[in-house]
Amino acid sequence: LIVDKGNFRHFMAKEIHEQPEVVGHTLAHYLDLASNQVALPDLPFDFASISRMSLSACGTAYYACLVAKYWFERWAKLPVDVDIASEFRYREIAMDPGGAALFVSQSGETADTLASLRYCREQDQHVLSVVNVRESSIARESDGVLPTLGGPEIGVASTKAFTCQLTVLACLAIAAGKARGTIGPELEAELVEALVEVPRHMAEVLRDESPYEELAHSLSKARDVLYLGRGTSYPIALEGALKLKEISYIHAEGYAAGELKHGPIALIDESVPVIVIAPRDELFDKTVSNMQEVAAREGKIVLVSDADPASAGCAVQTTLAVPTVHPFVSPLVYAVPVQLIAYYTAVFMGTDVDQPRNLAKSVTVE
Ligand code: G6P
Repeated sequence: LIVDKGNFRHFMAKEIHEQPEVVGHTLAHYLDLASNQVALPDLPFDFASISRMSLSACGTAYYACLVAKYWFERWAKLPVDVDIASEFRYREIAMDPGGAALFVSQSGETADTLASLRYCREQDQHVLSVVNVRESSIARESDGVLPTLGGPEIGVASTKAFTCQLTVLACLAIAAGKARGTIGPELEAELVEALVEVPRHMAEVLRDESPYEELAHSLSKARDVLYLGRGTSYPIALEGALKLKEISYIHAEGYAAGELKHGPIALIDESVPVIVIAPRDELFDKTVSNMQEVAAREGKIVLVSDADPASAGCAVQTTLAVPTVHPFVSPLVYAVPVQLIAYYTAVFMGTDVDQPRNLAKSVTVE
C-alpha cells in the first residue's frame, strides 16, 4: 500500500484534513442513518448486565478513553475506570470475573496496552478493542473488535486516529445507554443526529486556517503553554498540550480548569499563553471565571470557543472560532483546533512535523 502526501506539505496536515471524510466513514459503519439509530455488531458482553467497565490505553488513545469515561458515565450511567496501560498492567488489580475491559489503540501493537489486555484475559474479563490496524495483536487477542475506519496514519502525532476512536466510542456509549435504559428513542435520535453533523463542523473549522498560522508567531516564542478545559474539554486540553509538545517541543500542560488554583496559576504571567477550550455549554461560566483569574495575572488567553469573546468579561488575546455544536460531540469537533494550533506552531518553528525527535509511531517495547 502506497500512501502519499497528496497536495499537503506533511502527512499530519493531510491526516488532519481527512478527518471529515474518515469520521464520516466510521459513522456510516456504526450508525443506521436511515433510522437515526446506532448499529453496532454483537459485543462480547451485555451493557445491561455489567456494573462497570475498565478502559486502558497509551498516549492519545488514552485521552480518547478519558473522553469516553464522561460519555459512558453521563449518557449510559455506567461507571468507567480509565487507566494508562503502563500503570494498569502492574497494579495487580483484582477484577470480578465476567467484567468488561476495553482497549483503544491505533496500531494495535503498543506493548503496554497489549500486556494490559493479556492481564484482563487472565482475570476472566470480556475483552473489546477499538483499533485502527485490523490485523494487529490487540485485535487478534480480543473477544470483539470495533475498527476505526481512519485508514493508514503516517504522522507520528496521532490526529485522525484520535477522532475516529472518539467516533466509535461515542457510538458505543449510545449503545450502552440504550441497553441500560438511560437512552430512549428520542434521545438516541438526538445524539445520532449530532454525530452525523460532526464531519460538516470539522470541515467548517478547516475552512480558514489563517488564524492558526497567525497565532503560531506568538505561540512559538512561549516557553510554557497551558491548556485548560472542563468536562469533555479537559481531555481535549490534555490532547492539545500533548500535540504541541510532541511536534513543537514547547513545554505544554493540560489542566482541568478547576485545578488552576491548585498549582498552575503560580506560573501565570504575561509570557504564558493559556489556551482555553470552552464550548458554550453548561460549564462555560465556570471556565470563564478561571479565564478571568488568568487575565488578572496578565496571562495571554487564546479562547477556543463558539462564544463571543466579549462574554468572557476579560481581555482575550485571540479567539479561535468554532461552530456551535451539540455538547455531546464537542470533543470531536474541538480536537481539530488543538491539532491545528500544534501543527502551525511546529511548521513555523521548522521542526520535523511528521517525524518528531525521540518519538515513535508505535511503541512496541516497554
Ligand atoms: C505513540 C504514538 C502516539 C500514540 C501512542 C499510542 O506514543 O506516538 O501517537 O497515541 O503511541 O499508540 P497506539 O497505537 O496504541 O494508539
